[in-house]
Amino acid sequence: MGVLKGKTALVTGGSRGIGRAVAERLARDGALVAVAYGHNEAAAKETVGAIEAAGGRAFAVGAELGVPGGAEALWAAYAAHPLATEGVDVLVNNAGAASRSVFGRLGTPQEVADVVAFLASPDSRWVTGQHLAVTGGLQLSLL
Ligand SMILES: NC(=O)c1ccc[n+]([C@@H]2O[C@H](COP(=O)([O-])OP(=O)(O)OC[C@H]3O[C@@H](n4cnc5c(N)ncnc54)[C@H](OP(=O)(O)O)[C@@H]3O)[C@@H](O)[C@H]2O)c1
Repeated sequence: MGVLKGKTALVTGGSRGIGRAVAERLARDGALVAVAYGHNEAAAKETVGAIEAAGGRAFAVGAELGVPGGAEALWAAYAAHPLATEGVDVLVNNAGAASRSVFGRLGTPQEVADVVAFLASPDSRWVTGQHLAVTGGLQLSLL
């Protein structure tokens, strides 16, 4: 299955919305996906179930981010899970800030997931050390 077979991805905010679309896409591409959530374990388990029902592999990891020690708690929760691999190949920091584009709307989950899937795939191998804004041109709207 897929270009990410044998890889592990961790998606923060992976239980709902954009993060869920990203998690499902990376799993469809073959990755084992850690679905990270803040408080809503049921939503995370539902996302894991949807990935598994589609033939993918995933597990849920809970930790509140944006608080002191949040990142450390996330990695500790990840490492404690029986399905955790020694390292993570793809880290998607999705739980973050919103933006509005020059198109006058927010991006859809699929629009963001498609870009993440490209960056996680071998097709992006010659892209190195770049900050890629997936904002539909937010910077242009601020000029
Ligand atoms: N670039 C764009 O065009 C664009 C468009 C829309 C949104 N965004 C941004 O993209 C991100 C995802 O948006 P969304 O609409 O998919 O959001 P959402 O549906 O509200 O999902 C939020 C996800 O983040 C998790 N989360 C929220 N606060 C957290 C915390 N403090 N610690 C750990 N996890 C936390 C939630 O887990 P729990 O439910 O368990 O807390 C959930 O999995 C947001 O940051 C949003 O501002 C960007």
